[in-house]
Amino acid sequence: MKFETLISEKEIATRVKELVKEIAKDSKGKDLFVIGILKGSFVFLSDLLRLLYVHERHPSLDFITVESYGSGKVSSGKLKMLRDITSDIENKWVLIVDDILDTGRTLAFAKEYFQKKNPASIKTCVFLDKPDKRVNNFKADYVGFEIPDKFVIGYGMDYDNLFRELPYVAVLLDEKE
Ligand code: PRP
Repeated sequence: MKFETLISEKEIATRVKELVKEIAKDSKGKDLFVIGILKGSFVFLSDLLRLLYVHERHPSLDFITVESYGSGKVSSGKLKMLRDITSDIENKWVLIVDDILDTGRTLAFAKEYFQKKNPASIKTCVFLDKPDKRVNNFKADYVGFEIPDKFVIGYGMDYDNLFRELPYVAVLLDEKE
């Protein structure tokens, strides 16, 4: 399997620092509650959390798993909460974190789901944004990088549940490339 680097470790580190600076500024004095969407977000989220610490932010943390249902290989576009958070987010400043914003279905679903639980506010943060794939008008509040419609792996993102451990983002190449 061949792949080439799209975003280097150094570029990631620089951009994530900038993003966290913004989040820390906006969440100043708020009761911050971070929700990561499994599995892809775990690497980005762990960098983000440790940088929030540098800015003296001490968020609560939980994870969700969102699954699309329906049979067959083609996604039905319908989603369900497979794993929910276990704490109360009422009056919290909630930040939902994901690795990639693609069609926009996952984050739109998660935001609407948590909106019903009366948080003080809900923001969304994605490491990568692929605007070309969007099927709705969803926009994330914090975006690491906007990328073209290519299949990416690494920094938490997978191909068949592999390559999540790469410390950089790579593009899968055709065997011919
Ligand atoms: C990916 C990614 C996002 C979602 C984005 O998850 O982690 O959660 O798809 O796609 P969308 O904007 O089209 O909804 P995936 O289903 O690959 O699961 P994983 O995170 O466990 O790899």
